[in-house]
Amino acid sequence: MTKKFYITTPIYYVNARPHIGHTYTTIACDAVARRQRMLGVDTWFLTGTDEHGQKIERAAQAAGKTPQQLTNEVSGEFRALWDRMGLTYDDFIRTTSDRHQRAVRELFCRIRDNGFIYKGHYTGQYCVSDELYVDSVGPGAPCPECGRPTETVKEENYFFKLSAFQDKLLKLYTEQPQWIRPETRRNEVMSFVRSGLRDLSISRSTFSWGIPVPDDPGHVIYVWLDALANYITAMGYGSPDPTDQQKFEKYWPADVQMIGKEIVRFHCVYWPAFLMAAGLPLPKGIVAHGWLLFEENKMSKSRGNIVRTETILEVLGADALRYFLLREIVFGQDGSFSFDALVQRYNADLANGLGNLASRTLTMITRYFRGEVPYPSAAVAHKPGDDAIAETARQTIADYNTLFDQYQFSRALETAWGLVAAVDKYIVENEPWALGEKQDEESRSRLATVLYTSAEALRIVTALAHPIIPQATTKIWAQLGLGDIKKVALQDLKWGQLQLGTKLGNVEAVFPRADKSAIERMQKMEEQGRSTPAAAPAAEIKPVAATAATTPAATAPAPPVAGGKISIDDFAKVELRVGQVKVAEKVKGADKLLRLEVDLGTEVRQVVAGIAEAYAPETLVGRKVVIVANLAPRKLRGLESNGMIVAATAEGGKPVLCSFLEDVPVGTRLK
Ligand code: ME8
Ligand code: MG
Repeated sequence: MTKKFYITTPIYYVNARPHIGHTYTTIACDAVARRQRMLGVDTWFLTGTDEHGQKIERAAQAAGKTPQQLTNEVSGEFRALWDRMGLTYDDFIRTTSDRHQRAVRELFCRIRDNGFIYKGHYTGQYCVSDELYVDSVGPGAPCPECGRPTETVKEENYFFKLSAFQDKLLKLYTEQPQWIRPETRRNEVMSFVRSGLRDLSISRSTFSWGIPVPDDPGHVIYVWLDALANYITAMGYGSPDPTDQQKFEKYWPADVQMIGKEIVRFHCVYWPAFLMAAGLPLPKGIVAHGWLLFEENKMSKSRGNIVRTETILEVLGADALRYFLLREIVFGQDGSFSFDALVQRYNADLANGLGNLASRTLTMITRYFRGEVPYPSAAVAHKPGDDAIAETARQTIADYNTLFDQYQFSRALETAWGLVAAVDKYIVENEPWALGEKQDEESRSRLATVLYTSAEALRIVTALAHPIIPQATTKIWAQLGLGDIKKVALQDLKWGQLQLGTKLGNVEAVFPRADKSAIERMQKMEEQGRSTPAAAPAAEIKPVAATAATTPAATAPAPPVAGGKISIDDFAKVELRVGQVKVAEKVKGADKLLRLEVDLGTEVRQVVAGIAEAYAPETLVGRKVVIVANLAPRKLRGLESNGMIVAATAEGGKPVLCSFLEDVPVGTRLK
């Protein structure tokens, strides 16, 4: 019997577009799935979209669409993005599909028949953003998870006897200490469960966008019960079709379920309890990774601080993003994303690292040995440095495998790139280019040995890295003359398998160097993308820098998504100050722009603002205005703008500058 491996991502909400946070989990799972396939394991990789619930219903309302329209659109976007990236999911589950809905009703009935569901009354707080019942706070209090206001829910509901599973869950975590990884998450879950579990409301009756409760269609099933079930419904659970049943028997339980750390409670408490109640096997383990941060905050659609995956794909390609996310961030911990760090990693490890090793090695084999892999021939040509590389390679294979299988991607890659660095040094020390100029037999033999050793190390790194950077390694493999990399049996990878006389393919660079303009291009694309219109109120206070004049799209306020709240700390990050206009003049060739010099008390700033159609420059001199003082500078029509001026802008109307009735000293902070 061949081994099987079943891996899942969370299914993503369709209330907003995919961003690199979702991409992160999906890439990690894709890398693991690719590796399992290379190990000859029968692998199933599932992803999909979570499409029911109050949050989605409201997002659809806000967008003026039916929930089904919205979910079709956004689910399609997720899928198209994964396809564009070449992600190798085997199935894509949508919770609005018939197969899923039918199977969820089946699961509900089974849990009910087993005596774990009863009807009762729920009065308490609910966080729509997390789709979470919050028992611990009173009316109007913020959600302890995300800080947004909770809503009071008072309805007749179906309840799940979660309290009956407290001991069984604790037993699970104790007997299988690796069931929740990493350990910090396990500890949190254990203390949460130890503190006592209350029964869980698993139906709602005040909105309708969900799966109706069997025999009681006035209720819809709680979205997290609906969503978690995807991991089995996609595998054929509850289907009358025998082929589906066989699939379920074969692949369930999942070998690993990857999630972000904010949904640990649902996956490590509710999910195993639901499965226990249904009498179904539990997944073998849950692995929770940390958050991708952008400018120190969790990247999220409600914060509006997301980076779109498409931007990076367009400028650097999918491999660059995959490598960066898995190499730069310690899996399990939070990590920051920045375009600078991305480009730096790309250049150091891919362009100058692996890419350069491949091109210099393969180019020299082409030049000195007519494109055929030479063999480390006579003992006379042998040096200890050659053996050291072979030994490093053996050790690298062993370490890489161990680390990868513990989901320590960054350390695994660090090890593999240690081999790249060792070979680079070896090449420099042995100067094959100098050997290549000599015709004597000994130099030829020595050159053969050095280039064989380099090419063999390159082959090994390429095979190991394939699950992480599939596109580039596919090319390098073909350039090495080895055919289809997918056919590699990773479990058999050893030093010395590269055959004498292997004919190289066409050699070309796989990772062209990126320069500063790559960063600028990505930043620009994000600035433009971020201003995708959100439902804007008729008039709101917003800064009117010249963005309004240069990029029409930027006139829409940046999201936070409708309804999203920020904390006082978030607001405190915005430094608003009173300034006084000293100089105001038109900007040549730009009808809407004024160049201002604004005194902030401690300094005079140049600000370029899109207010020329509303204010004649001379009326502004001496006037006090409000400036966003800590904005990153940007260039408009060649002029640097250091801050934004705050104005109220009605839809379709002209900006009206913010001012004070009383006199306020220049430099005063607004808070
Ligand atoms: O929670 N950093 O969906 P969701 C790292 N539908 N990972 C991130 C991330 C970030 N900044 N942002 C998103 C849901 N993710 C539910 C799940 S499962 C039965 C239902 C990734 O759209 C990460 O995997 O909010 C996180 O857990 C998931 O996207 C949340 O996606
Ligand atoms: Mg979320």
